[in-house]
Amino acid sequence: MPRLKDKVAIITGAAGGMGSAAARLFTREGAKVLLVDREEEGLVKLANLLPPEQASYFVADVTDEAATKAFVAAALKRLGGLDIALLNAGIEGEIGRIDEVPVAAFDRVMAVNVRSVWLGLASLMPAMRPAGGSIVITSSGAGLRGSAGLAAYSASKHAVLGLMKSAALEGAKDKIRVNAINPAQTRTRMMEAIDAHLNAAGRTGDPAARIPLGRYAEPSEVASMMLFLASDESNYCTGAAYQVDGGSMS
Ligand SMILES: NC(=O)c1ccc[n+]([C@@H]2O[C@H](COP(=O)([O-])OP(=O)(O)OC[C@H]3O[C@@H](n4cnc5c(N)ncnc54)[C@H](O)[C@@H]3O)[C@@H](O)[C@H]2O)c1
Repeated sequence: MPRLKDKVAIITGAAGGMGSAAARLFTREGAKVLLVDREEEGLVKLANLLPPEQASYFVADVTDEAATKAFVAAALKRLGGLDIALLNAGIEGEIGRIDEVPVAAFDRVMAVNVRSVWLGLASLMPAMRPAGGSIVITSSGAGLRGSAGLAAYSASKHAVLGLMKSAALEGAKDKIRVNAINPAQTRTRMMEAIDAHLNAAGRTGDPAARIPLGRYAEPSEVASMMLFLASDESNYCTGAAYQVDGGSMS
C-alpha cells in the first residue's frame, strides 16, 4: 500500500534538488503535491514529469506573507485538503567571514530560511487544525554546529530548529506534528555552488573524505527521511530533528 495514499502535500523549494526528489517520491507513494518555488521554469519541468492528477504548481516567493497564505489556500482548493507540508526552500547566501559579508546578505538569508518558515507555520497550522498533519522543516548539519564562512546560513538553520520545537508544542493537541531534518552535504545546486566557491578560494583535498560514509548524499536519500516524517509511520514523532548526514555528527 502506498505510504502517502490520499494525502495532500505542499513542498516549498520544489524546483530544487531536495524538493524535486521529495516530489517524485511523495507522488510515487500516492500523494497529491502542490509544488511551490519562485522558479517557474523548474516547477513546470518537474510538474511535467509527475502524473497530472497528482501534481499542481504555484509560483511564490516564500518570504511573502500574502503569497504564503495564497499557496496554502490553493492546496486546500485545488487538491481538496492538506495533510503534509515540507518547508524546504532555502538559500546559502553569500560565503565569507562575518566581517566581510554585508548585513543585507544576512537579512536575506534570514528572510528566506527563517521568516519563510514562520510564515509557513502561521498559515499551515490553522489549516491543519481540523484534521491534524505533518510539517517537516529542512534545517541542516549547519543548524547543529557552526559553519565558518556561512555564519548567517548556520544561524538561520539553528533558528528554524527553535521554531520547529515551539510549533511542535503548540500543534500537539491538534495532532499537528512538526519535525526537522538535518542533511549534510547533498548533491544539489546549493552544494555545487558552495564547493565551487571553496575550491576557487584554494581548498584542497576531498571534502567527502571527512564524511564517515565517504560520500555526499543523493537528494533521494534525504527525501526518504522526509517521507518517513511525512507519513503515518512517524505518528509518535514530533518536536525532533533527524540527521541524514553519513555519520558526520558522530
Ligand atoms: N544541498 C545540501 O548539501 C544541503 C544540506 C543541508 C541542508 N540543505 C537545505 O535543503 C533545502 C533544499 O536545498 P537544495 O540543496 O535542494 O538546494 P537548491 O538550491 O537545489 O533548492 C532550493 C530551492 O529553493 C528555492 N527558493 C530559494 N529562495 C526562494 C524563495 N524566496 N521563494 C521560493 N523558493 C525559493 C530555489 O528556487 C530552489 O529551487 C534548503 O533549505 C537547504 O538549506 C541543503
